[in-house]
Amino acid sequence: MTEVNLIIFGIGNVGSTLINQLIDFKPDLRLKHNIDLRIPFVCNSKKGLYAKSLGHDWQSLFNKESRSYSISSIQEIVSQFRLENVIIVDATASEAFVKEYPFFIDKGFHIVAANKAANTLDYEFYKILRQKLARLKSNFLYETNVGAGLPIIETIKNLNQSGEKVKKIRGVFSGSLSYIFNRFSNEDIEFSEVLKDASQKGYTEPDARDDLSGKDVARKLLILGRELGLQSNLSDVKIQSLVPKTLNGKTTLKQFNDRITELNPIFHKSKSEQNGDKVLRYIGELDVENYIFNVKLVSESRQTSLGQLKGTDTLFEIYTESYNDRPLVIQGAGAGKEVTARGLFSDIIKIANTL
Ligand SMILES: NC(=O)c1ccc[n+]([C@@H]2O[C@H](COP(=O)([O-])OP(=O)(O)OC[C@H]3O[C@@H](n4cnc5c(N)ncnc54)[C@H](OP(=O)(O)O)[C@@H]3O)[C@@H](O)[C@H]2O)c1
Repeated sequence: MTEVNLIIFGIGNVGSTLINQLIDFKPDLRLKHNIDLRIPFVCNSKKGLYAKSLGHDWQSLFNKESRSYSISSIQEIVSQFRLENVIIVDATASEAFVKEYPFFIDKGFHIVAANKAANTLDYEFYKILRQKLARLKSNFLYETNVGAGLPIIETIKNLNQSGEKVKKIRGVFSGSLSYIFNRFSNEDIEFSEVLKDASQKGYTEPDARDDLSGKDVARKLLILGRELGLQSNLSDVKIQSLVPKTLNGKTTLKQFNDRITELNPIFHKSKSEQNGDKVLRYIGELDVENYIFNVKLVSESRQTSLGQLKGTDTLFEIYTESYNDRPLVIQGAGAGKEVTARGLFSDIIKIANTL
């Protein structure tokens, strides 16, 4: 039986769903896969809980018994209880937290992350992290960074490592923006109404401008580019933001929400410019051979896979030497706490199987 110890940072939507999935599947993992998966420590940004074993009541235990902690106190717990095969799970969105990754790698821990920060900060940090991982033979998996539970990063990596030249990646990378443009294109409805609906359903970030700015799509595009060996930075991505200058960051969130109807004439004009066969789609596009990263609003024929997208589905087209005219396509739910937590779980098991 291989003992694996998870230290989970971030117990919000994704982290808490993951803990519940892990608790549910723990008996099967012991029985069928010979893995004894333990969760000795879970924490948010302020408090942490050390426990010998977590059950389904872990949240009330956390509320009662969690204490403030420091990163070094976690190392003390690992030494004191002789925890083996430690995997750090990063279910935060914190840029500050990823600066601790080198410390964890030095201690021989592995890392699984939903957080995109470590892969999108400056290239120097990205390079140093990989050198450290290679030197200390630690694993760092982050499949959920792009397409949540969909196998995008692994597919790109496998194609690249097996000598298949990836030429272009193109697609709708954001579940929230997919939903917004799928509805707006097909229904007689104002843009502000679709945006409000997407926000009420929890598809957008609390401040919808975080989605509309295109930065999240740009981060995903950058991660894929770096996976293919491009030494690029976020500043290399040309982003067509959907937030007009009059409603950008200088406007408060409340002011933005109050003036949301100002978006209507802009998107009404774009929609009216589409002829019968065309729909609007907000895409990421990477021309690998020419190092061109673009995030933009495009007209797409209703006959293509992108033109036929429904709901919150994301879609990734991968053009390679062999998949040239007809790309390899991966499509499915590209966001949501359940699929994202399952993607983290899958990365954890991949590492556990190597230990
Ligand atoms: N939700 C999705 O569909 C989805 C899909 C793909 C990827 N992701 C990524 O998954 C990550 C988590 O998303 P989420 O929706 O679960 O976010 P969330 O609900 O806001 O939860 C974030 C958690 O991280 C904790 N945290 C923040 N900084 C921390 C730090 N320095 N140390 C320890 N804990 C810290 C927060 O604690 P406090 O409450 O104390 O601040 C909170 O528990 C994000 O990076 C997101 O981009 C999410």
